[in-house]
Amino acid sequence: MEDMTESIRRFHEQPQEAKMEWYSRDFSRKVNYYSSGDIKGRAKPVPAEWKDTLSCRAADDQWDFDALPELCRHEMKEYIKNMIDLQEKLSELMSKPLGLSKDHLSSTGYLKSIKLSGHYYPACPEPDLTLGTIKHSDPSLLTLVLQDKGNGLQVLHNDQWVDIPAVDGAFVANIGDFMQLLSNDKFKSVEHRVLATSFGKPRISAVTFFLPCAKDIHKPCGPIKELLSDNSPPIYRITSYAEFMSHYRVVGQIGGRALPHFKL
Ligand code: OGA
Ligand code: NI
Repeated sequence: MEDMTESIRRFHEQPQEAKMEWYSRDFSRKVNYYSSGDIKGRAKPVPAEWKDTLSCRAADDQWDFDALPELCRHEMKEYIKNMIDLQEKLSELMSKPLGLSKDHLSSTGYLKSIKLSGHYYPACPEPDLTLGTIKHSDPSLLTLVLQDKGNGLQVLHNDQWVDIPAVDGAFVANIGDFMQLLSNDKFKSVEHRVLATSFGKPRISAVTFFLPCAKDIHKPCGPIKELLSDNSPPIYRITSYAEFMSHYRVVGQIGGRALPHFKL
């Protein structure tokens, strides 16, 4: 875990020219480096987020590790492989409390792809004017956040922002919106944000998003049938991950909630 955060630091602390090879907001690329979050397509402007991001993705487990920047390739590859290995376990941990068979979420392809973001939050001269990451819930099923020593991450609990300090050797596990939809509100996604801070070392985080199977993103899906009954009717309509994401990009990335749009 330490190797991972150190390798993200190494990437971001290179001279600007060296990073420009990766600079792009074309998210069909395997690897991107960009500033201030995914601002593309937002329905209204939001304050610039005080962070830089190196993100990478693959369709399911088709990772092209050679496409990763050499400076952090080894660490990212090891980290991603470990995250792929974790998928079965995470499926089990989330399927069981729902009363589903332990491989339900993995065998149905709901938990199959991974996206990884390595964020770098530099010290901000005027932290009251912006945030590191604005308030949002993740579109994923589940997100595992690895934070290096440092503060800034907060979750919204009973209308109060609660600090989530880094704990050595631990991940923060955030339920995402699509899990809330599939579980018919049995799991609730969590709104969170990262404060900008003016002091100390830059904050580093490695964020792994667990997502549905790439080939199924247009497949119709909704609340899991096994969870529905007369007492528990579906709360959300049938949609697809692709449709959900196109709405999320417009609403969810400017501090709003994407889920209400899909309510029956
Ligand atoms: C995210 C996120 C938190 C962090 O990337 O969605 O919430 O600690 N990141 O960087
Ligand atoms: Ni998030």
